[in-house]
Amino acid sequence: MEKLVSLAKRRGFVFQSSEIYGGLGSVWDYGPLGVELKRNLIERWWRSVVQEREDIEGMESAILMHPKVWEASGHVASFTDPLVDCRQCKKRFRADDERIKGKPGEESAQCPVCGSKGTLTDPRMFNLMFRTFMGPVEDAAAQVFLRPETAQGSYVNFLNVMQASRQKIPFGIAQVGKAFRNEITPGNFIFRTREFEQMEMQYFVKPGEDEEWFEYWHEERMRWHYDLGIDPDKLRYHPHGPDELAHYAKRAEDIQYHFPFGWQEYEGIHNRTDFDLSRHQEYSGKKLQYVDPATKEHFTPYVVETALGVGRLFLVVMADAYREEEVEGATRIVLGLHPSIAPVKVGIFPLVKKDGMPELARNIYKELQKLFAVFYDDGGSIGRRYRRQDEAGTPFGVTVDGQSMTDSTVTIRDRDTLKQERVSVDQLATYLTERLQP
Ligand code: GAP
Repeated sequence: MEKLVSLAKRRGFVFQSSEIYGGLGSVWDYGPLGVELKRNLIERWWRSVVQEREDIEGMESAILMHPKVWEASGHVASFTDPLVDCRQCKKRFRADDERIKGKPGEESAQCPVCGSKGTLTDPRMFNLMFRTFMGPVEDAAAQVFLRPETAQGSYVNFLNVMQASRQKIPFGIAQVGKAFRNEITPGNFIFRTREFEQMEMQYFVKPGEDEEWFEYWHEERMRWHYDLGIDPDKLRYHPHGPDELAHYAKRAEDIQYHFPFGWQEYEGIHNRTDFDLSRHQEYSGKKLQYVDPATKEHFTPYVVETALGVGRLFLVVMADAYREEEVEGATRIVLGLHPSIAPVKVGIFPLVKKDGMPELARNIYKELQKLFAVFYDDGGSIGRRYRRQDEAGTPFGVTVDGQSMTDSTVTIRDRDTLKQERVSVDQLATYLTERLQP
């Protein structure tokens, strides 16, 4: 994990937020390569979930919503974690922190940080939602929340989207956007943060057909992760037991990845029944129902949700792609990212900075730039330039050498096999396009 964090910083994938001020707890910034990788992940998800399907519409709701939304959704009452404090060292923990010995509140319970006995308080419930105020007066009437999930924006817009897009049930609404949770114990780099991004899809179905759709999305989502090239041996499902289910869920299953710190969730598939739509009908007094055009039957749809964290997916693809290899007596660090998500697709290098090579390489760069994210590098030995792109996860390197100047061919180096092929400059775009297909 330390190696991954160090690479992430060194190569500009992820930086600590406000680092020059000592950082802000569990908040992270994405650097030049990180932002490209993140956008590519979102783009790949959006393409498969929205653009390649007739039955799913995209939307983007605001982060701030009417405060009643969060009463109706149950987040004000139930989006809580049990918290304990140590009276001795003043540290805070989740009551279910595995490091705590004994039962918090009892004399025998031991603080996992300072080791004191009998200093842990009884657990008390702590709401994870961030609050702020709307307008100049900071009183209870002006209090609003930063959303802890994008899902509620899709529920309150269920009728708007359905009518505007003329969809019929079953259909879905997808969103990508920021969410905020005042986590008690964030950590493990970008795994659990207080500000994060979600890619969520709410699929509205006829009650009674929810189990079937749950199975469908359960399969479909795992297939998506396989297609992204994630090692299948590091993926598994984790069904939620009754004590793990969120307040809205009838059934839930996580997709887990075997991170360097163990098996952990990064996507959830939830059967949320008609809980959210029914509660919004109750609290708003507005009907959120579907009328079957054939039978004229009225019903409140059930929802099967797929919820994936962008930052967690980012960590999965980085951890899965990272490898170290011995090549000609030296260690090579490679990020074997799937080409579709690699921040840079092709590195372009003149072998030396003379004899017309930089000019030809620049021309190739300008042409390929119209098609993909490319990077021009003429600094240092060719070996070092290859290694820099290996660490960035760049799938191909194009080198202009002496022969290029006589026969208009270049070498193409494959990041994974290290094989080099000679290709003519006019065939370069076709060659690379074929190999960079999603
Ligand atoms: N709308 C349902 C929902 O939000 P969740 O299981 O709480 O469900 C879905 O969250 C996904 O969002 C998680 O699988 C994870 O990838 C991501 N996520 C949740 N909390 C997070 C946090 N504090 N930091 C980073 N990602 C988080």
